[in-house]
Amino acid sequence: MAHVLVLNGPNLGRLGTREPEIYGSFTLDDIARRCRGWASESGLSADVRQTDDEATLIGWLHEAVDSGAHVVLNPAAFTHYSYAVRDACALLREVPLLLVEVHLSNPAAREQFRHTSVVSGVATGTIAGFGADSYRLALSAIARRLSPVH
Ligand code: DQA
Repeated sequence: MAHVLVLNGPNLGRLGTREPEIYGSFTLDDIARRCRGWASESGLSADVRQTDDEATLIGWLHEAVDSGAHVVLNPAAFTHYSYAVRDACALLREVPLLLVEVHLSNPAAREQFRHTSVVSGVATGTIAGFGADSYRLALSAIARRLSPVH
């Protein structure tokens, strides 16, 4: 069974009360529970984590490389400026492992500074704007890509 790390960056631990009109009313625990269910429906196992710390996130990306786990990543604000997170994401491609960048909101439809993603260029693909469903679509995309009949 393929393993997926579902990694979440800064301030996503505040979901539920953080700008619910933008991010929805689900907490990260709700999303984590759903992700585990969606993963097992797709024949995957998922480990869902969140950190506000760039070094911790980079360590988890290295762990994915070393353990052969695919990654669903919501880099949150790191999306827009962290070359260190981008370089860690690039390591996944060399293995190769899949990396799906996800966003709850659609950053392209928001403030100008959110229009740049330094991660997209090294991701397998990006899913944005579907709320918690962005994670479901990302897990399903990984399962389909891994399936011999996709
Ligand atoms: C986000 C979008 C980012 O611009 C923002 O900094 C976040 C969340 C999203 O999921 O929509 O923290 O990644």
